[in-house]
Amino acid sequence: MSTESTEHDREVLDHDDLLDHSYDGIQEYDNPLPRWWLAIFWATIVFAPLYVLYFHFGGGMLATERYDDAMIAFFDKQAEQLLALGEISEGTLVDLISDDSMMNGGRKVFQSKCATCHGMFGEGGIGPNLTDEYWLHGGQLMDIYKTVRVGVPSKGMLAWERQLRPAQMMAVSAYVGTLLGNQTPNPKAAQGDHFVRLPPAEENQEVPDDLPTAEAAAEPAAS
Ligand code: HEC
Repeated sequence: MSTESTEHDREVLDHDDLLDHSYDGIQEYDNPLPRWWLAIFWATIVFAPLYVLYFHFGGGMLATERYDDAMIAFFDKQAEQLLALGEISEGTLVDLISDDSMMNGGRKVFQSKCATCHGMFGEGGIGPNLTDEYWLHGGQLMDIYKTVRVGVPSKGMLAWERQLRPAQMMAVSAYVGTLLGNQTPNPKAAQGDHFVRLPPAEENQEVPDDLPTAEAAAEPAAS
């Protein structure tokens, strides 16, 4: 050890008190923490309860709430414009598909509210596969909108009108309409009847009822 550091050690010894405990011969000086460190430390202690009171019990909005509010404001604005066009119809829903902002909104609603049961890509899970041509409750966009709105509570599909704004339900229904034919990992087997989606102008026509059902389609062709 150099004389320099011995001198330094002696200086420290003069200024600092050696604490009186000793662990296996190791002792420590009673060095106070730097003031700036203590200031930050106390500031965090003061800040934490204020933060909790303001954001969790007071009027402060968490980032997710601000985001939800912004989305609702966005959908409300869209809804006003849409409702100005008249009644919700197959045609209005089809038109939404070419509206990028509505489709982005629809995708966000789908991923946050629907993907848990229908899969991230609509491939199905607890709920049916939404990418195939087989539907339990009809495959027109208006059928989808109705299923989303009133749900099938007895089968585990919620009535979303209690949780989503009309424009959100419209956006997500139109978005579900775009999933048709998607190639997805692990698609769930088809359920329901084969359904060919008709363009808005023909939607009220009779759908031929001799189209095969999902069960028939799943069976291997008789040889
Ligand atoms: C808790 C699970 C769950 C969630 C979340 C859920 N669904 Fe469903 N969904 C189901 C089930 C189960 C069915 C099948 C109902 C039946 O058997 O009649 C279904 C059926 C549907 C159908 C009808 C499919 C068909 O074959 O006719 C559509 C469309 C649909 N859901 C869309 C949505 C959308 C859009 C959302 C999000 C806003 C959503 N679902 C959220 C469980 C769910």
